[in-house]
Amino acid sequence: MTEAHSLTTDMLARVHRAILAADGWLPFDQFMAMALYEPGLGYYANQQPKFGTMPQSGSDFVTAPELSPLFGASLAQQVAQALQATGTDEVWEFGAGSGALAHQLLSELNSLGVAVKRYHIMDVSGSLRARQQDKLAKYGDQVNWLQAWPDSIEGVVLGNEVLDAMPVKLLHRIEGVWHERGVVVAPENKPEGLAWQDRPTHLRPPVEPVGDHNYLTEIQPQAEAFVTSLAERLLASPKGGAAFFLDYGFPESEYFHPERHMGTVMCHQAHKADPNPLAQVGLKDITAHVNFTGIALAGQDAGLQVLGYTSQARFLLNLGLAERMAQADLPERVQALKLMSEHEMGELFKVVGFATHDHWQAQGFAQGDRSHRL
Ligand SMILES: C[S@@+](CC[C@H](N)C(=O)[O-])C[C@H]1O[C@@H](n2cnc3c(N)ncnc32)[C@H](O)[C@@H]1O
Repeated sequence: MTEAHSLTTDMLARVHRAILAADGWLPFDQFMAMALYEPGLGYYANQQPKFGTMPQSGSDFVTAPELSPLFGASLAQQVAQALQATGTDEVWEFGAGSGALAHQLLSELNSLGVAVKRYHIMDVSGSLRARQQDKLAKYGDQVNWLQAWPDSIEGVVLGNEVLDAMPVKLLHRIEGVWHERGVVVAPENKPEGLAWQDRPTHLRPPVEPVGDHNYLTEIQPQAEAFVTSLAERLLASPKGGAAFFLDYGFPESEYFHPERHMGTVMCHQAHKADPNPLAQVGLKDITAHVNFTGIALAGQDAGLQVLGYTSQARFLLNLGLAERMAQADLPERVQALKLMSEHEMGELFKVVGFATHDHWQAQGFAQGDRSHRL
């Protein structure tokens, strides 16, 4: 039996048990949490490679810091400004993946002479923590891993492609009636062993999609609760700080657009995307696009100010990516271009920024701020 085969077999057995313990129906968010984070078996908890630029490396998808070191170098500009504006000296990265972004940021901040007393990393994945520790060994005590939220957070917080990895609830409007989508044990003849089942619910998306057609979508209570928890901790510290989240997604008017009737849940494996999270559980990444209006409102309701919201392309240009590219060699330039290109990460990916105290102009949002579209 291959390692991958035994992983999915064990995972399926675990999911079946969870379904039975939940009286036969597991809400999708609970299934997604297991598929991604179940100790030892979930996608982010097992030892499979995940991050990389090519399927040959055994990787499944590429993220901005894996694509080009100029991503971290540009973001460092924003971190340096935010540290100065807030009078703080600590960085907090959530969901640090392979440690690539931390590596790029620390290298650039150290070479700019920006004093970072501590670079804290919080990641729900233990297997990735080990990989990060390897990659960041040269920074010694400057990097600190946390296993649980501290009571307060002071400094600059970052999360690249973290919100999209948080479990979502699936809502399905069927003939005008809203249902919550859950997972059940499939009848014997279904090879995947799992099937969908929709049950009527009082839950609703924040916007009713126009039309009376059947409509599948997601809500993201966990990502919003995450922002609320973060806000509480930033506001509990004397100096507070700022936070920047980069991810793929839209404002809610686009998120709940009548034409987006199949939702945004997607799986990634070997650099191919597919829409079926019920197959090969634990071997594929499962994600959903981020409703940035929901994220911005969660931050604001918890007492943060929105510093700005824009496309990744605009954000990185404001932080000097074009100037950095001009000095890079051709292969590096080609990779970095993908960070900005409309057809790659430039337009689908967005950035939202928050601050605790006085509003200050963040350099990344200096031009092309789209906060008014949230
Ligand atoms: C798609 S990966 C992105 C990794 C990295 N930031 C990058 O850009 O390459 C998602 C990461 O978020 C982490 N993660 C998901 N939910 C989290 C949470 N609530 N707190 C901290 N990390 C989380 C996962 O373990 C994983 O490292």
